[in-house]
Amino acid sequence: MSDPPARPRIMKGAGGRMLAAVELDRGSALPLHLQLYRQLRGLILDGTLPPETRLPSTRTLVAELGVSRLTVVTAFEQLTAEGFLRARQGDGTYVDALWTAAMAPAPVARPQLSERGAATSARGASLFSEAPHSWDPKDTESFVPSQVAASAFPAGVWRRLLARHAARTDAAAIGYGDPHGYEPLRQAIADYLIDVRGLSCGAEQIVVTSGAQQAFNVLAVLLLDPADTVLVEDPGHISGRLAFQSQGCRVQGVPVDDAGAVVAGGDPSARLAYLTPSRQHPLGTVMSPARRREWIAWAQAHRSWIVEDDCDSELRYHGTLLPPLFGLDQARHVIYVGTFSKVLVPSLRLGYVVLPHDLVEPFTSACSVIGRTPATVMQAALADFLAEGHLHTHLRRTRRLYAARQDALLEQLDAQLAHRLTARSVAAGLHVMGWLEASVNDIDCARGLARQGVFTYPLGEYRVQRPLPPALLIGFAGTAAEHMARAVARMAEAFERLEPGGAAEA
Ligand SMILES: Cc1ncc(COP(=O)(O)O)c(C=O)c1O
Repeated sequence: MSDPPARPRIMKGAGGRMLAAVELDRGSALPLHLQLYRQLRGLILDGTLPPETRLPSTRTLVAELGVSRLTVVTAFEQLTAEGFLRARQGDGTYVDALWTAAMAPAPVARPQLSERGAATSARGASLFSEAPHSWDPKDTESFVPSQVAASAFPAGVWRRLLARHAARTDAAAIGYGDPHGYEPLRQAIADYLIDVRGLSCGAEQIVVTSGAQQAFNVLAVLLLDPADTVLVEDPGHISGRLAFQSQGCRVQGVPVDDAGAVVAGGDPSARLAYLTPSRQHPLGTVMSPARRREWIAWAQAHRSWIVEDDCDSELRYHGTLLPPLFGLDQARHVIYVGTFSKVLVPSLRLGYVVLPHDLVEPFTSACSVIGRTPATVMQAALADFLAEGHLHTHLRRTRRLYAARQDALLEQLDAQLAHRLTARSVAAGLHVMGWLEASVNDIDCARGLARQGVFTYPLGEYRVQRPLPPALLIGFAGTAAEHMARAVARMAEAFERLEPGGAAEA
């Protein structure tokens, strides 16, 4: 039935107010009955049509709005079913009090979510204002420490593997998936770990996570009570520390020397130690075999946990890779956390945890509450990527590429910025430390550089308790060797515009 053309409206009172307010758009793709329904509902909710208002009759509305009877009846029926209108037998249709009575008299101002802390708990505000967030992800010549080489990503292979799994409709691909992670990926990770890291474990000990960060968050909830003490490296990985700190525990920083984190520096009764033995983050130190033994002895003596974060030791340019703590500890107090963020790309959001057998099920249950298992299609594509040897190929290429980028960075820092900072080659990882003069405030300096589009991280932000000399973490993996001179020149210019002490000139 088509709607007749609209006529001028001449009603007074509540019915007139309603008719004056309703504007139907005949050119809209939204059917007229839906437009009428939405507008009447809005008029009732905002109080234009108060409770007990008698609505004009269907016949009047048809005539005044120029719509069909079916349009009006459909809208009224829906509003009646939802409790906005009430039909009185033989006496027309009235606005019901159900919704209007429940509404607040005036709109309440919402908290400004963009202002950090305004909408969070005191604990949330203090924890998460520390989380690192000051990089520009679009910058292709960034010095951000965890940036990888976008151009090296084997996009063709990845597209083919993703396509292989994207169209699957079998139960394993479509359902919630195995909460431990996609079984072929767990197997492929177990094979990879023995090949590349000398870590021997069964696939049944591996749980796939959404990056290492999810593993830290889950372990924090699973293993810690608020009264517990957690030992972290000082300086140490910020987001990892915050995951443990978020449980309300006491966090104690242990110093890091040339042999790695110092055991003697920490509270012996601590429940957990969060460590990066393969390549201390951010300083780059490799934990010595003797120090490894000391930490394992500490965990065994106090029945404490060690969370071993090994995020990028596969990216090693020289020197030997020592076996992880996980394989050295016979008493099973070590939990190993790995990630594909650095060896491949962080946007995959895929990592994994290798657990002592008795922690696998508790960890998996906690994971299914805190984030659930990552997207199956990604896991399946990655499983094939590993099983077909593409990660080995990618690692061989990126090791060469990153070694050349590191050399280029050090050469350019020496040529253009030797008067500002001192940097030495690192054996593994994606950044070097640029040590600044003692009088410089590294946090102000990094902020001043960032304001000019040059992104690094200040060592000061990695500090837990003890004072540190000022330094910048300068990533080399994200900038091509042939562009390094230009990128470092930009950094040098930005340095020249800094005020003494570090802050940028206005
Ligand atoms: C020390 C350390 N551990 C772990 C990670 C990896 O985190 P994710 O796997 O969540 O990307 C990073 C990333 O920057 C890191 O620096």
